[in-house]
Amino acid sequence: MLRVAGAAQSFGDEQVFERLSLGVDAGEVVAVIGPSGVGKTTLLRTLALSLEPDEGTVTVDGTDAWAVDDAERLSMRRRVGMVFQEASLFDAPVARNVAYGLRVRRSWPDRLRSLVRSAGPADAVRESLAVVGMAEATCRPAASLSGGEAQRVSFARALAYDPDVLLLDEPTSDLDPRNTDVIEEAVEEARDRGIGVVVATHDMHQAERVADRVAVLLDGRITETAPADVLFEDPSDERTRQFISGELVY
Ligand SMILES: Nc1ncnc2c1ncn2[C@@H]1O[C@H](COP(=O)(O)OP(=O)(O)OP(=O)(O)O)[C@@H](O)[C@H]1O
Ligand SMILES: [Mg+2]
Repeated sequence: MLRVAGAAQSFGDEQVFERLSLGVDAGEVVAVIGPSGVGKTTLLRTLALSLEPDEGTVTVDGTDAWAVDDAERLSMRRRVGMVFQEASLFDAPVARNVAYGLRVRRSWPDRLRSLVRSAGPADAVRESLAVVGMAEATCRPAASLSGGEAQRVSFARALAYDPDVLLLDEPTSDLDPRNTDVIEEAVEEARDRGIGVVVATHDMHQAERVADRVAVLLDGRITETAPADVLFEDPSDERTRQFISGELVY
C-alpha cells in the first residue's frame, strides 16, 4: 500500500540512507529496528511524504507520490497518520486534541465523511480513547497528562483519523511496562482494523512481540527484512546477527 523503493536521503553532506526499500500492506505490522541516529525517524518522515527522497520513489497504491501535483499528494498524505517520537498535544482538553484529526479529515470528500456521519465525531473520539484506555480522560487538560498518558492520547488522535497507514516513531521509548502493553495492544487493534503499521523502535523485544515483519537498518542500509520469528531466530545477514545479539556496539 505504502512503499519506498531505492530511496536515498541526506541532510547537507551527510547521507542518512541510500537504496532503501520498504513497504507495508493493509493489516500488516512492520518494525524498523536499528541503533540511535541510523535514520529511523528520517525513514518514517519519508514514508509520511513530509520529506522528498533525493533518489528513489515513494508510492501509495502504486502511484508515485512525488510525481503528482500538490493537491493529490496532500490527499495521499492524509491517508497516513504519524505518531511522533515526542507526544505533541495542544494546550486543550484531551477530547479536542483527539478530535483535531477528525476535523481535518471531515474536509475530505469521500468515504470518511460518511463514516463520521454515521458514527458521529464524539463517538470516534471516545472509541479511539477507549482503545488506549483513556476513555475517562476526555475532559482533562492535555497539560495535566503524564508522559505515558500523553503518548496514549497521541496514538488515539492518529487512530481517530482512520488512516490507512499508521507510522509510529518509538511509541513506547519512555513508557513503563503497563503503558507499553496498552500501546502494543492498540497496535494489534489497528492491525485488526486493516491498518498497515510501521513502527520504528530501539526495542528488539517489542519488534518481536508486535511485528509481522522486521527490517534492520544499519549504516544507511536495510541489511535484512524478514518475518519476526525468522529474523530473530535465524538471521541470514551476518551484521543483522551481530546487531540482534548485541555484538555490534554503536
Ligand atoms: N532535519 C535534519 N537536519 C540535519 N540532520 C538531520 C535532520 N534530521 C535528522 N538528521 C540526521 O540524520 C541522521 C538520522 O537521524 P534520525 O533522527 O532519522 O535517526 P533515528 O534512527 O531516528 O535516531 P533515534 O533512534 O535517536 O531517534 C542523524 O545523524 C541526524 O543527526
Ligand atoms: Mg528517531
